[in-house]
Amino acid sequence: MSVLAKRLGRIKPSPTIAVTSKARELKAAGKDVIGLGAGEPDFDTPDHIKEAAIAAIRAGDTKYTAVDGTPALKKAVQAKFQRENNLAYGLDEITVGTGGKQILYNAFVATLDEGDEVIVPAPYWVSYPDMVLLAGGEPKIVECGQNERFKLRPEALEAAIGPKTKWLILNSPSNPTGAAYTKEELKGLAEVLLKHPQVWVLTDDIYEHLVYDGFDFATLAQVEPRLQPRVLTMNGVSKSYSMTGWRIGYGGGPKQLIKAMAMIQSQSTSNPASISQAAAVAALDGPQDYIKESNVVFRERRDLCVAALNDCPGLNCTTPEGAFYVYPSCAGVIGKKTPDGKTLESDEDFVTYLLEAEGVAAVQGAAFGLSPHFRISYATSTEALNDAMARIKRACEALTD
Ligand SMILES: Cc1ncc(COP(=O)(O)O)c(C=O)c1O
Repeated sequence: MSVLAKRLGRIKPSPTIAVTSKARELKAAGKDVIGLGAGEPDFDTPDHIKEAAIAAIRAGDTKYTAVDGTPALKKAVQAKFQRENNLAYGLDEITVGTGGKQILYNAFVATLDEGDEVIVPAPYWVSYPDMVLLAGGEPKIVECGQNERFKLRPEALEAAIGPKTKWLILNSPSNPTGAAYTKEELKGLAEVLLKHPQVWVLTDDIYEHLVYDGFDFATLAQVEPRLQPRVLTMNGVSKSYSMTGWRIGYGGGPKQLIKAMAMIQSQSTSNPASISQAAAVAALDGPQDYIKESNVVFRERRDLCVAALNDCPGLNCTTPEGAFYVYPSCAGVIGKKTPDGKTLESDEDFVTYLLEAEGVAAVQGAAFGLSPHFRISYATSTEALNDAMARIKRACEALTD
């Protein structure tokens, strides 16, 4: 009898973390590698946030806190939802966890029974299907292609909803495509959802602040208040404030769900780190200019990548609204031969070729449920990006029929 649970057979390790580790290993072995796999900003956490953490340590805020967040952090989250999203939540409708990841995981464990379905638009963030599977549910993948700007259309949503559907996951701006839903697009989805009262919606808004060209971010519960009683609005400080290592995410939703999620957290990890919570209060309540400043840099890098990728034979890249990813199609290189005679059969072959021939680490679209594409994270220095783009172009030009 295996020591490992059968449940484990349903999931796989995160492919994005695998690429980052492989790039790190190659670098450590002395190879000249540019990692474009990471899902975190390359900027440092702003000083006023670090200072708040240091002050918390000095003040002795180093003990257990309330399981799903200190009153101070819940108040800061409440104020954030009201200020930025026009969403009113009571303090008992707010939960704080160890990263956005824990919020999602708690929600699925708290709600999914064997066989319950979760609609996951593809391309998706790698963890959604596996979290659903781990919680005993079934991901129902709905492909949203480049011609739909990688967004779920109302007709596709309608067609995907069935008697077993419990949740829809909406991630805007998206990892891996950077696509973000306009208010009108959300309204279109809301119309379908209003007809299906058994379907709950998890909106993953973790990239909310990373939008460019004046894009007006909106979240579903704000656009259609009638849905708020069955929406879990998830967010966190990881991406907006360069705080990936601090591990603070939060959610707003109906009391019954929030209470159940807190119960799961109480029997697993208990409270997120007390010091990180104090830092998150400073992030949410403090000056927000940092976001504007980093967005100027991200936007420049996005434009640099889109232009450079569209200049590579065989690649095609749309301009996304937000996040720090682009998701070019590599359909035009499939079937071509590399200089050492290997035929590229898939996006996985293509990213392997990029890594081996030019030392550029990107992630294959297959990992996100939509091929043939690959994901580039531009959360890396502009200099490294310029270098990487030149290498990708060289790699594409070296392919033959
Ligand atoms: C779409 C999406 N949701 C959630 C998360 C998790 O964020 P956190 O670091 O807060 O757990 C990530 C991180 O990569 C993400 O890309």
